[in-house]
Amino acid sequence: MPEPPRIPEEHPADPIARAYSPGRVNLIGDHTDYNGGLALPMAVDLGTTVTFTPDSTFRVVMSSAGEPEPAEVDIHLRFEPELIRTSTPAWGRYVAAIVALVRPFTGGRGRIDSTLPVGAGLSSSASLEVALALALGFHAEPITMARTCQSAEHAATGVPCGLMDQLVVSAAEDGGALLIDFSDLSRRTVAIPEGLEVVVVHSGHRRSLDHSPYAARRAECEAASYGLGPLGHLRPEDLVGIADPQLRSRARHVVTECDRVRWFCAALETGDLAEAGRLMTASHRSLAEDFEVSTPALDDLVVHLVSLEGVYGARLTGAGFGGCVVSIAEPGAIDLTAFSTPAWRVRPSAGARVLA
Ligand code: GLA
Repeated sequence: MPEPPRIPEEHPADPIARAYSPGRVNLIGDHTDYNGGLALPMAVDLGTTVTFTPDSTFRVVMSSAGEPEPAEVDIHLRFEPELIRTSTPAWGRYVAAIVALVRPFTGGRGRIDSTLPVGAGLSSSASLEVALALALGFHAEPITMARTCQSAEHAATGVPCGLMDQLVVSAAEDGGALLIDFSDLSRRTVAIPEGLEVVVVHSGHRRSLDHSPYAARRAECEAASYGLGPLGHLRPEDLVGIADPQLRSRARHVVTECDRVRWFCAALETGDLAEAGRLMTASHRSLAEDFEVSTPALDDLVVHLVSLEGVYGARLTGAGFGGCVVSIAEPGAIDLTAFSTPAWRVRPSAGARVLA
């Protein structure tokens, strides 16, 4: 007699999902992503872990360590930036935007834990967006993941950020920084030499891009590129075609920064760390003088760091207007306890992933 069909084993009752995304520090190449240029961000060993347990409700309820109120979002929420940008609590706007975009099948409850400082320019929000999207079951190749989370960031904050942060935290490989060419989104990993230390120091000024001139800088770049094409594709000799001196300075930063990214990668790959450091410090000067996104605290930190024995170079990292400075140095050259603000020694990390 044939055996009766077996009753399949039940699925586990508690299909808890856990996902992790790193933050990032940008080694060189700032305000180049939205200009079709080059950048070299590095995913770091600080990041966000999201756990999520689906249930049979229609609400996603997420709590976050350090936030008194949970974010509660209806899974049928429409992706309307106006609705998302005015929802409360304010931190939950990221959750609302991701839920509205990835449309989980059911509600559920979850928790967000992060080792990243908020408002420091280390991409805590991109890290949250990508880890949450993964925990809610959205799986996509890095460019689609990054574009989805960039749309979430635009809706949640109103800031027209580029694609760098979401792309590097999705696509990074362990052991290196990610050289991204924003003209075609091609990328390759550039190894961080053994024994090179990457140190991040907070300037003490938290920054929030929605109250900064980030959007104004982006608009200035667009105005400067009028009739010439994306600034990331221009050569220094093309700058004479920009009549307005302020717009010409903005464009000069982008054009020279893309060259610095190229040369920095070459310097890392040939082990010329002194040259790599000089390029970082030159990048800071360009961001401060031509792009005008530095602050006195960031400038002071750069001057202090490069005066230390064994430090190759330092620059503000990310958008500027506050946040952190990144520095490369010989091991042990920078004493983290010597600062009155938080400081971290960071290591390259792989990109976001679902955890077992
Ligand atoms: C922020 C944005 C990025 C990029 C940097 C500046 O981090 O999110 O897209 O423009 O500023 O390089």
